[in-house]
Amino acid sequence: MIKRIGVLTSGGDAPGMNAVIRAVTRAAIVKKLEVYGIHDGYLGMYEGRIERMYRKSVSEKMRQGGTFLGTARLNEFTKKEVRQIALDNLKKYEIAGLVVIGGDGSYRGGLALSKMGMPVVGIPGTIDKDIGGTDYTIGFDTAINTAVEAVDKLRDTSNSHRRCSIIEVMGRNSGDIAVWTAMAVGAEVCICKESGFDLNEVIENVRKAAHSKRHAIIIVAENMVSVELLARHVTANTPFEARSTVLGHIQRGGSPTVRDRVYASLMGVKAVEALLAGKTHHCICYRQGQFIVMPIEEALIDDDTDLLDKYDVFKLLW
Ligand code: F6P
Repeated sequence: MIKRIGVLTSGGDAPGMNAVIRAVTRAAIVKKLEVYGIHDGYLGMYEGRIERMYRKSVSEKMRQGGTFLGTARLNEFTKKEVRQIALDNLKKYEIAGLVVIGGDGSYRGGLALSKMGMPVVGIPGTIDKDIGGTDYTIGFDTAINTAVEAVDKLRDTSNSHRRCSIIEVMGRNSGDIAVWTAMAVGAEVCICKESGFDLNEVIENVRKAAHSKRHAIIIVAENMVSVELLARHVTANTPFEARSTVLGHIQRGGSPTVRDRVYASLMGVKAVEALLAGKTHHCICYRQGQFIVMPIEEALIDDDTDLLDKYDVFKLLW
């Protein structure tokens, strides 16, 4: 029977991570478990930076962006000897179960730990929404709302100046932020990996927009094209002068939306229940309106179907 659990946030931070830590901590305490917070993700686990958490430790944290436990990306965690040192640190505290809040890289780390004997339950915390098994990841809703608010502002100035705004959003391996933002702002063009793109078609769409509008919006997912070069190309080949903006890390900050806080709370409780039910290499997924527990390996399988359906709707409505 598990008596002590650890909780950590890992990889890129996401708004709502604090709400998850709060839910895990309080649900565990209600179920008579001791909870230990691990600072800076797997790095803090490796360095033994672990502290006991109480109800009060998570007071006033839910509305704060970022993660108060801190996070890190630790490439060395792929090495077994590094994980062994981290596990030995958990053993010193008699921690017998771990909740990992993060994205796909963090899940891989968790899976590797579970294969070394530590029961792990993952909670999807990433603005990218790039974990195949779940329709939702904590932080996504806040991030897209930030992106949409920024694009709405850029539209104002584009319209005044008769310009095309080209905006790069985050998501290095996933076009979810791009497609959702493009649909929400009624963009002319959305460029992301899942759909691919044709430069001639991009220019054609912007030219069409110039017939009836004073501005055009192009949303580009990170790592697809240089938005600066694309702006030069659009300026040279359409009636619009173009400007590029990289939204960057602003999308990772801010107070979480209601949806992120509520789903974080529900997933946090579910994760503690899963550990107590004996799950050892699992994660919490949101699928078709239900929170379910799934093996991490299964959840990591990519599924672009839903995103491509949304992309088609975006194109249909343009
Ligand atoms: O994983 C979330 C994410 O924000 C990606 O969208 C982005 O590519 C990456 O993290 C940026 O990472 P870092 O903050 O380490 O530069």
